Amino acid sequence: MGRFYLTTPIYYVNDAPHMGHAYTTLNGDAICRWRRLHGDDVFYLTGTDEHGLKVQRAAESNNLTPVEQADRTSRRFREAWDLLNIAYDDFIRTTEERHHLSVQTLMSRCNENGYIYKDSYEGHYCVSCEAYYNPSDLEGGNCPIHERPLEPMAEENYFFRLSAFRDRLLEWFDSTPDNISPEGYRNEAEALVRAGLEDLSVSRTSINWGVQVPWDADHVFYVWYDALINYATGVGYGADPERFADWWPATRHLIGKDIIRFHCVYWPAMLMAADVSPLPKLHVHGWLLLSGAKMAKTSLNQITPADLAESLGVDELRYSVLRDNPFGPDSDFSFEGLVQRCNTDLANGLGNLLQRVSAVVVSSCGSAVPAPDPDSPLADVTAAAYEAAAAAWDRVQPSVALESTWRIVRETNEYLQGRQPWKMRPGAELDAVLGDALEALRIVAVLAYPAMPDSCEEIWRRIGMQTPLAQERLPDAARWRGRPEGREVRLGQPLFPRLSPQ
Ligand code: ME8
Ligand code: MG
Repeated sequence: MGRFYLTTPIYYVNDAPHMGHAYTTLNGDAICRWRRLHGDDVFYLTGTDEHGLKVQRAAESNNLTPVEQADRTSRRFREAWDLLNIAYDDFIRTTEERHHLSVQTLMSRCNENGYIYKDSYEGHYCVSCEAYYNPSDLEGGNCPIHERPLEPMAEENYFFRLSAFRDRLLEWFDSTPDNISPEGYRNEAEALVRAGLEDLSVSRTSINWGVQVPWDADHVFYVWYDALINYATGVGYGADPERFADWWPATRHLIGKDIIRFHCVYWPAMLMAADVSPLPKLHVHGWLLLSGAKMAKTSLNQITPADLAESLGVDELRYSVLRDNPFGPDSDFSFEGLVQRCNTDLANGLGNLLQRVSAVVVSSCGSAVPAPDPDSPLADVTAAAYEAAAAAWDRVQPSVALESTWRIVRETNEYLQGRQPWKMRPGAELDAVLGDALEALRIVAVLAYPAMPDSCEEIWRRIGMQTPLAQERLPDAARWRGRPEGREVRLGQPLFPRLSPQ
């Protein structure tokens, strides 16, 4: 049993949640549920990033105060996560007092250690990114991500001495091969460090919607340096040193590839500057693309998680998003793709398996189904699938883990097709086939639980298990061992009705 502290990015509250945000948050939820099934002490943190110019301007254009804008949109994120059955342990808002204290503590530490100084700054700023760009990074004079013109800005700012951390960052890359995964993103981050590091402007005087610089009331911290620190706040930084010391070594961040520079270069340097160790591990994913373009708030092609959950069902959405969009590369996202995945894997696959097994048990044997055969061919199938799935979850590959799990579904359906239990007479042979199929279903329910918690609990109940699936512990729960004798199998409505592409 270990500790496992996982975070998502905290999302901007300038606009409502979309499927891109849901993608990161769902992957995190499934990974945490997988760890909880091992009895790990898990802490899953998500939340909202509420300061900065982008949010202030969104508020202005909605005729709201920044606080009203933040309250309203932050609530929409929490509602979306509740709807998608995301079991987060804490939802942090950067406007909370605990966070202000934590930011001020960490940045004061950087200051005391000599890594902050004051200077004037002039540059080109993208409000959508909340970032300055070097002229060499622009594309046709525009922001390379948002393809929009930049705004010239000039300010007197506090600077963070990032340039002092090049060697220590490179040493982190050398000594920690698994600091960032997958490897392509690790290489990208390392190249950023090698390319040379300029000091960063970390405060603003032009706005006041932010965390005040504790040693200079005219300044607020620039939104990104406030935001990154949420990960420390979430486990008690600045308020509860013991709690922080317990959790911090177990920290892992999930992020999209758009924020690699902030998380894989700036954040580790800030932690070093504030004497916080060890450095966290990072898992980076690509973009969900709609017709080849990144799904984003600044474009019109967004799909809301709530609409999709309503059309497909919550677990259907969770499963098909996790299964169809491997964590790492960019991935095409389409409603038709999700529907097809649900029909193939859920309606025809798992749902059909559950239905045909329950129907024969109920019609032919009452509840007297014996333990499965230890030498059943399905015993080897489930053992191999479990090994592959466990390895994939550990590598942060939910899609591969689910693909491995569905090998059990496919092989069990084929096994039933071969043995034709619905044509057998009641007796030992029929009982043996059904015992095997029920055991395979039991193991699938455990392994698919992180993706589809409610549906798997329902399968669990229908095959007669009496204590909640969530209380099971891996690896034991994946062992070929059988249901407790004499429990009653129930035939219910099809769990995953066929969906029609609309
Ligand atoms: O960047 N595909 O917030 P943000 C996949 N507040 N994931 C996507 C996505 C897409 N098309 N679009 C967004 C910020 N995401 C800062 C973060 S953290 C200290 C501060 C996901 O609202 C992905 O995780 O722009 C990405 O990194 C994040 O949303 C950006 O959310
Ligand atoms: Mg963004």
